Amino acid sequence: MALFKKRRSVADDRKIPDHIAIIMDGNGRWAKNRGLPRTAGHAAGSKKFKEIARYCNKIGVKYLTVYAFSTENWRRPKEEVDTIMNIFRDYLKDSTNFKKENIMLKFIGDRSGMPEDIAELMNKAEFDSKDATGLKVYMAINYGGRDELVHAVRDIVNEGISAKDINEDVISSHIYTKDYPDPELIIRPSGEYRLSNFLIWQAAYSEFWFSNVLWPDFTPDDLERAIDDFNMRNRRFGGV
Ligand code: IPE
Ligand code: IPE
Ligand code: MG
Repeated sequence: MALFKKRRSVADDRKIPDHIAIIMDGNGRWAKNRGLPRTAGHAAGSKKFKEIARYCNKIGVKYLTVYAFSTENWRRPKEEVDTIMNIFRDYLKDSTNFKKENIMLKFIGDRSGMPEDIAELMNKAEFDSKDATGLKVYMAINYGGRDELVHAVRDIVNEGISAKDINEDVISSHIYTKDYPDPELIIRPSGEYRLSNFLIWQAAYSEFWFSNVLWPDFTPDDLERAIDDFNMRNRRFGGV
C-alpha cells in the first residue's frame, strides 16, 4: 500500500527542485495551542521531519536541508535546550532507520559547540549512511549563516589564500554546503517571513515559500503546494 496518497500536480512534467531547504519552525506555538509544554512541540516536530524527509526521497528530491537548531537557539531556557538535545540524541541513536531507506544524513553547523556525545553520534550517523544513493539530508544543527561565513573566512586566511585570489567560488568552497548546490526552494512555515540566519549566502537566488501552518502540522500536501508554486516562478537570475 502506498504510504502517501497520490495528489494531482500542476503538470506531469513539473520540475522537482533538486535542493529544498526547510526552516522547521512553529513547534512551540503548536504545543502552546494544545496546552502542552513547548518541549512536546519539539518531539512532534522531530516526527514530522522524518515524514517529510521520506516523502522527499519518494518524489525524487536530491538534497533536503533542514534547520533544526540555530546558533541563536542556545538563548532559550536551559530546560528547553536540554530537551531538544535529548531529542537529537534519541533521533541519532535511531538513525539507522534512514539507512534502510537509502537516505544519506549529514550535518552542517559548528559541531565543536555541541555536547561531545552528540557530536560523536553525528559523526557515526554520517559514516553509517555515507553510501546511501537516495535523498541526501543535511541537518543544520548549531548552524548560523554568519557563523558559517566567519569560519569560512578563517579557513581561507589559514590556507594562505591571497586577497587577489578570493572570489565567489573560493567562498562557496569553504562553507558547510560546499559539496552540494544552493537551495532552489526555501520553505518556512509558522507565519514568519525571515531567514533567521539560515543559508544567507546560499539563498541569493532561492525561491521562497511561506505558510502559516506550524511545522508539526505540515503535510506532504503542503510540500506539494510549495513545489507547484515553485513551478510557476520565473527565475531570471538577473537576466531578462
Ligand atoms: C522551531 O520551533 C524549533 C527550534 C527553533 C529548535 P520553535 O521552538 O521556534 O517554535 P515557535 O516559533 O516558538 O513556535
Ligand atoms: C529558526 O527559528 C531556527 C530553527 C527553526 C531551527 P527561530 O524560531 O529560532 O527563529 P526566530 O527567533 O523566530 O527568528
Ligand atoms: Mg520559532
